[in-house]
Amino acid sequence: MRSWKMTLPLAGGAMMALTLACGIVLPGSAAAQSGEVDWEKKPYIVEDGKVDYGTYNGYRRYHSYCHVCHGPDGMGSSYAPALKDSMKSLSYSEFLDVVVNGRQNLSAGKESVMPGFAEAQDVMLYIDHIYAYLKARSDDAVGRGRPDRLPPDQDPVFQEWKASQ
Ligand code: HEC
Repeated sequence: MRSWKMTLPLAGGAMMALTLACGIVLPGSAAAQSGEVDWEKKPYIVEDGKVDYGTYNGYRRYHSYCHVCHGPDGMGSSYAPALKDSMKSLSYSEFLDVVVNGRQNLSAGKESVMPGFAEAQDVMLYIDHIYAYLKARSDDAVGRGRPDRLPPDQDPVFQEWKASQ
């Protein structure tokens, strides 16, 4: 059974972080908290190699804001870890925590800094999409490069997103 409701809890966590960080509240998230655990595990839809709007948008946002350090397609670089692998063990809230607050590793001879994105609205508003994309990559549900999108009328995530605008 495909359960598109699972994609709805557009981030209880992100909402909270946003509210705390910038005093913004996004529309339409009180619904469907019950699906959250499953959404966390599988926040994307892939059918016949085509992805939902969230995953697609996550691909685009990732390649605008994250790939300079984390490499194209989540593959990592000499500077920052491969998120394709990180997402196998990071929970949603751990992921969110690092993105919102950043992290520094200044141990012996190493200086790598993950900037915090709390102030970056274009990231925070779509952080669930970036999460969805990276989970899909780490599950090998989408390959490298730009994924194809499901047609809008077959894409419950898109329908939901449009309704919330
Ligand atoms: C300026 C470079 C840079 C950018 C841009 C950047 N990161 Fe990072 N990121 C890092 C570094 C370096 C680390 C490793 C930090 C450490 O060693 O603790 C990291 C760590 C992370 C981790 C933890 C990985 C793990 O294995 O624990 C996550 C999740 C993450 N970044 C997500 C993102 C996302 C999502 C974006 C885009 C919105 C992003 N990063 C943009 C440099 C960057």
